[in-house]
Amino acid sequence: MFDEYGIPHRADFDETRLPELCHFVYCSRAAEGINESEVCRIVETSQRNNLANGITGVLVFGSGVFFQWIEGPAAEIQKLIATLHSDKRHYDIVSLSQSQEERERLYPNWDMEKVEAEDIRLVLQDALENAEDQINRMTLMRILKQLDLGPLGRGDQDANPLSGRSRSNA
Ligand SMILES: Cc1cc2nc3c(=O)[nH]c(=O)nc-3n(C[C@H](O)[C@H](O)[C@H](O)COP(=O)(O)O)c2cc1C
Repeated sequence: MFDEYGIPHRADFDETRLPELCHFVYCSRAAEGINESEVCRIVETSQRNNLANGITGVLVFGSGVFFQWIEGPAAEIQKLIATLHSDKRHYDIVSLSQSQEERERLYPNWDMEKVEAEDIRLVLQDALENAEDQINRMTLMRILKQLDLGPLGRGDQDANPLSGRSRSNA
């Protein structure tokens, strides 16, 4: 319990307890005219803001499609999700995963790392190999499976935001 100064006894500190962390993973389509230099500007802004707000993650841009993993304090993540939804530089945001748990960060050193589209599998697989947290492992496995088979699967170009092209404009 507490000592005479109101400080918890040592046994009441759980040093192994993980911080409450929120994550949000989504895909979206880039608006007309969004090119690599605009994406670099997005990354610069993101790194500056995310560092200040305790957010880390990964941004992938390829074939006109964004894929982003953001993680951090719940209040900051909720604010960023609202900001992302009103950003005209992308649309058709598809939420792939969202949760709030006591968990480790997957990308503790990346304020916002831009990853090439062809490397996204490697980045997620690498994270999976290093993830000790069961919830993170399950989320990663699910997204990797989606990349192969699900609505993001290669088989159905129209339903695959990561393919970036619909049949009509292919
Ligand atoms: C695909 C995409 C990803 C983005 N990711 C982030 C992000 O991780 N952090 C961030 O602060 N802004 C991000 N933004 C930009 C925000 O939507 C918004 O423009 C920015 O936060 C405004 O910051 P400012 O008020 O400092 O100019 C992203 C925008 C897009 C289109």
